[in-house]
Amino acid sequence: MEDTNKSIPEIARRTKVVDQCELSLPGPFGLVLFGASGDLSRRKLIPSLYRLSKNEFLPERFFVLGVTRTEMDQAAFRKMMRDAVYESLGNEFETDAWQRFEGKLYVTKVEHDRPEEYHSLKDAILATENINETMGNRIFYLAIPPEAYETVIANLGEAGLSREEEGGYTRIIVEKPIGHDLPSARRLNAVLRSYFSEGQVYRMDHYLAKETVQNILMFRFANAVFEPIWNRRYIDHVQITVAETLGVEHRAGYYDRAGVIRDMFQNHLFQLLALTAMEPPVEFEAERVRDEKMKVLRSIRPFLEEDVENFAVLGQYGEGEIKDKMVTGYKGEPGVPADSITPTYAALKVHIDNWRWNGVPFYLRSGKRLSKRKAEISVHFKAVPHLMFAKTLEERIEPNTIVIRVQPEEVISLIFQTKKQGSRVCLSNSIMDYVYQKIFSLTDYERILMDCMEGDQMLFVREDSVEQSWKILSPLLDNLKSCKEISRFPNYAAGTSGPPEADMLLAGDGRVWMPL
Ligand code: BG6
Repeated sequence: MEDTNKSIPEIARRTKVVDQCELSLPGPFGLVLFGASGDLSRRKLIPSLYRLSKNEFLPERFFVLGVTRTEMDQAAFRKMMRDAVYESLGNEFETDAWQRFEGKLYVTKVEHDRPEEYHSLKDAILATENINETMGNRIFYLAIPPEAYETVIANLGEAGLSREEEGGYTRIIVEKPIGHDLPSARRLNAVLRSYFSEGQVYRMDHYLAKETVQNILMFRFANAVFEPIWNRRYIDHVQITVAETLGVEHRAGYYDRAGVIRDMFQNHLFQLLALTAMEPPVEFEAERVRDEKMKVLRSIRPFLEEDVENFAVLGQYGEGEIKDKMVTGYKGEPGVPADSITPTYAALKVHIDNWRWNGVPFYLRSGKRLSKRKAEISVHFKAVPHLMFAKTLEERIEPNTIVIRVQPEEVISLIFQTKKQGSRVCLSNSIMDYVYQKIFSLTDYERILMDCMEGDQMLFVREDSVEQSWKILSPLLDNLKSCKEISRFPNYAAGTSGPPEADMLLAGDGRVWMPL
């Protein structure tokens, strides 16, 4: 794959020491932000850029050129962004830091489907580059509705904006969802490929930028004690949970067409699965890591259409209580059709058909309006082979578990057995926790933006793995209606741990879910 991380001749590499680690800092760049006045830009992107600037992670020479579909003057745009940052960061907002940052904000208008307007965009980019001396390094960020991706990408390409300028780089960040199914993902990737090389394309999955998710690889491959037992000989099964207490909020228009499988499994859960199950890459380098993740996705046993109910359980929330407040059911959310059959919960049983994982099921679940917000991977080891305590202990001995919790706390726990103090023989579950101490860390969007500026694609999803994930899920997505739970929607109350059928999925195999 083409290497687009060109050297920056005039600028010496800058670094910053954070929490005793040396971080390399990006060189000059211009970020062209499509959808600049939209929700994502206001809630995440502009606050992240502001925070990076305030904490001196950004170079002297950079700019953000907001692209909006309605005419807006610079002062109004800067005011809108100031309000957004204030709202999102509260007391992290500092007037001096803001004033330094807002001088780098510009705005221009482009109607997405008017090719001629991309020529004016090009002029605006060149003029802003001249003022800010960013050496032709450009990042396009598509924070726009996915239906507009293909049009914008093609128009950028046709206007010559995907080409790299002499000595500078051009990159494009595309938010999920990449497609709605396999054919649409292939089409979008094909459009990207016609104008950009894969080395220029940064497909976002913000879960990969979460601190503990990045730690999975360090935990597994920088320690000699875990990897030898990370396989079918010692592991009974693995659970991956991403539970949310939130409902669909104001996103019914998107969510009702997507549902939980497209919204969470195709990307976040499958990426967590791939990191947990992959082989050690030869090098901690983007392509090698992405190769290994891809091998895992390729080894997932295809789901059979006629067998949907043996590997999938779906759910949709009804009304219920969350944090002592009654909340409406999914069908009562604003913008959701009263007869919607969109699943807001799913539990899947996945088999990875390779040497390491043969016979070890991976149970994945995710849902909205559950009793707790929690994302974690739990690795459940086999029971001890011989019960030498059987005469004295009637209970079975709890097998060991390693839990990698991604949120809300960032913790790695080992659950093991110890003797209860003072007793003759009485075992108890003991938990050894490694809790992340937050000195300073980059948020997921800050990490993603920095990596793109640095030209590191490790935390971005490659074309082949996006398509492979869609391919695995297609039989399920095409046959959602054959899941018997759909006729019983809503089948779980908000504030619970999901539909009872999900428990049966594991109970049938003699296992239970980790409590939420
Ligand atoms: C997004 C989904 O990708 O991830 C949302 O579209 C979901 O529906 C969100 O709420 C969860 O992310 P996080 O970081 O809050 O766990």
